Amino acid sequence: GNSPRYDYIIVGGGTSGLVVANRLSEDCNVTVAVIEAGDVELYNPNVTDTSRYGNALGTAIDWQYKSIPQKFAGGAPQGLSAGKALGGTSDINGMTYLRAETAQIDLWEQVGNDGWNWNSLMEYYKKSEHMQPPTAGQMLLGASYEPESHGTSGPLEVGWTKSMMGREVVGPLNETFTALGLPFNKEPNAGSMRGFNVFPKSVDRARNVREDSGRAYYWPISERPNLDLYLNTFAERMVWHPASNEPGAKPKASGVVVMTANGTCTTIYANREVILSAGSLRSPLILEQSGIGNPAILKKHGIDVVVDSPFVGENLQDQTTTDMSYTMSNSTNLTGLAGYAAYFNVEDVFGSDLSSFNASIARSIRNYAERTANASGTISVSATEKFFQMQYDLIFKNKIPISEIIIAPAAATKSLTVEYWGLLPFSRGSIHINSSNASAPATIDPNYFMLDYDIQQQLRTGRMARAVANTAPFSDLVVDEVTPGLSTVSANASDAEWAEWLKSTYRSNFHYIATAAMMSQELGGVVDSNLTVYGTGNVRVVDASVVPFQVCGHLTSTLYAIAEKAADMIKAKYA
Ligand code: FDA
Repeated sequence: GNSPRYDYIIVGGGTSGLVVANRLSEDCNVTVAVIEAGDVELYNPNVTDTSRYGNALGTAIDWQYKSIPQKFAGGAPQGLSAGKALGGTSDINGMTYLRAETAQIDLWEQVGNDGWNWNSLMEYYKKSEHMQPPTAGQMLLGASYEPESHGTSGPLEVGWTKSMMGREVVGPLNETFTALGLPFNKEPNAGSMRGFNVFPKSVDRARNVREDSGRAYYWPISERPNLDLYLNTFAERMVWHPASNEPGAKPKASGVVVMTANGTCTTIYANREVILSAGSLRSPLILEQSGIGNPAILKKHGIDVVVDSPFVGENLQDQTTTDMSYTMSNSTNLTGLAGYAAYFNVEDVFGSDLSSFNASIARSIRNYAERTANASGTISVSATEKFFQMQYDLIFKNKIPISEIIIAPAAATKSLTVEYWGLLPFSRGSIHINSSNASAPATIDPNYFMLDYDIQQQLRTGRMARAVANTAPFSDLVVDEVTPGLSTVSANASDAEWAEWLKSTYRSNFHYIATAAMMSQELGGVVDSNLTVYGTGNVRVVDASVVPFQVCGHLTSTLYAIAEKAADMIKAKYA
């Protein structure tokens, strides 16, 4: 008939989806469609203006997902932001470009993913990147990098914003971190992140605009005749070819049912593959609406089971963020922008209490695994225990960073935000459909602070954050603590007092992952090492859903690399 038909359909024109769209459509013999629920935001200042981080949150280009009340974290639900635009969450995020730790990416291979390790991913970090080397002036303000760790001919502009904060901020900050035992890290993107750094961002320095995945991967190739973009179009579910009688044949998606901008429901057909890139809080829901998931959940909503896949939507992991704020002295010149991050390992954070903390977490692993498996109902104690043991080793043996503190002075208000989060929380939760109506809200439960390690880490880091503001010479620029303030959390507050305040004020760090995790099925995987959904013949997931466990960096750099690798794997299959 007249129904549109393509070789590949990509659901979600976000951070990852547009990478795949660009690379697959390089071959002019294949046709590609991208289905995106949002619109073009090329001239939305909340997207483009590099100084407006946060302004897009809560607007029409934020999906504004919401968790259920968090029973281990004070009871309140949490707002979960995600971008609804061509470019997805790369349109609304903080633009931070920081990758991961070598040891944690190397573990991907250990959980059933042949070929996924730091060295192989490094090739793709570089392939995606176009590093704009810092100018001499920017280097004076702390911008630094090592050329061998960066790409020079990829689509994504990475670098430092045009104007950067003055020396009167970065100098004292660096001296304060040194006084606290934390060295300057001149290349945090080479797999070893501990230290203080002035990080690069996804930014087009010459144009002084945010570099989102649209500007990097879509607009330069938007005229390709073999690439169609469906904007304001919401993908509801996949439809399937009739079951084949061939032995070993797996169900194959024939297309995607979408709701168009004018409210009509139609199907777009796929000859080869459907690639889900709708983000970790959406791709697992599309799988469930399409009959791939835990049969008990699907049946409850009257959805026929196409593939029994019990771990879809399980293993949800996020981090928790706390903001502290200070007033800055009037004499401080805060003109310009820059990103300052400090990465601390468990030794830095726990100091002389390290060995007792180590012993208490070692003793808790089994109990953590039992409680997590129990809360899930489908993931096993033994698989969870294996993950927790690996995470324990990363923290206490490899000593990779466990806490990140971001220092953000604001020129307009002469104020300082000190923001921090735990990089490797143990708590895990889930996301599932709550209706057979694809646009109905899901049940999202990250189980924030369910396991004691997470709050211990957060309160110790809170004390470190306060120490940064109170340690010379940076303390000379700081006037008063506004949040929490000493009347709320006193200078000698107990762990319990800190924990109570933290639970009343934390937010999601928006680094949701693992809801369709890439790992072996015994361990709870949903996709294999080719990112193909287990049990299907032609459905892949390429977005943050597949990341099996947290990375110490921020997610986009790693997602661009994953999507680049995914595109190569898809091309190789049909070559
Ligand atoms: P992404 O969300 O980018 O793409 C999914 C796309 O699918 C969206 O365009 C969406 O509209 C579309 N979609 C969803 N459902 C659909 C449907 N049913 N039909 C059609 N389309 C659909 N990372 C970082 O590296 N540095 C940083 O500074 C920050 N800061 C930060 C701040 C904030 C506020 C947030 C929310 C997140 C960050 N992050 C970040 C995290 C990072 O930006 C995020 O993890 C990735 O951009 C996610 O990329 P994905 O490709 O997984 O999904």
